[in-house]
Amino acid sequence: LHAPCGVEFEGVTFRYEPGGRDVFKNFSHTFRPGTSTAVIGETGAGKTTLVRLMLALLRPTEGRVAIGETRQELTNLHRCNFVYVPQGNTLMSGTVRENLLLGKPDATDEELREALRKSCCEFVFEMADGMGTLCSEHGGGLSEGQAQRIAIARALLRDRPIMLFDEATSALDPDTECRLLENIRLMSDKTLIFITHRMAVCDYCDDVLKLEKHI
Ligand code: GTP
Ligand code: MG
Repeated sequence: LHAPCGVEFEGVTFRYEPGGRDVFKNFSHTFRPGTSTAVIGETGAGKTTLVRLMLALLRPTEGRVAIGETRQELTNLHRCNFVYVPQGNTLMSGTVRENLLLGKPDATDEELREALRKSCCEFVFEMADGMGTLCSEHGGGLSEGQAQRIAIARALLRDRPIMLFDEATSALDPDTECRLLENIRLMSDKTLIFITHRMAVCDYCDDVLKLEKHI
């Protein structure tokens, strides 16, 4: 589970409905193990569909999506290689600590603090209740950017070889976003995939994948 792990799209054609529009048309791309990629493209270009194909929530209409050194075709079994940070607030009601422990139930406080530091959550240490601070289901007392960073800390604790971020830093100010991306990139054995609308993210990545909308 911990070896660097890549993902390969080989001649993938995908449409949601028979006779519908091809979201992907003979698309090939390799997300190389241990590298970071920014995925850009206009709305409707297929960024979220790409994520769903990687998580085996969808199957290619033609072609294949393969994973790891053996380049096995992706199945539900391979989902455990990924951690996915979606857009929007994904915290549950409960304390910061309880949310973080969803990432790694047996984590020590030191591991939790380390994950918070990496994801630029120093603000937690300044709050009166620290990791005992309550987050409500839709963020509650936290700002959107703070909730996003805690969700990222939780994803780091999960410690999977491939990390997928779908607009997961959209509410951060550019300075914090850059600092966070740099921290995540330093964990260089991970394969990182950042879906983004912000061109600045591209400067922090090894590769840029631009998806085009097919008519
Ligand atoms: P943004 O998140 O808006 O930036 O777009 P995206 O790049 O993530 O595009 P997405 O993958 O969501 O959509 C690609 C195309 O597939 C668009 O034409 C969508 O309308 C279509 N699509 C997305 N989800 C579905 C679905 O569940 N069913 C059907 N039939 N079409 C879908
Ligand atoms: Mg999307």
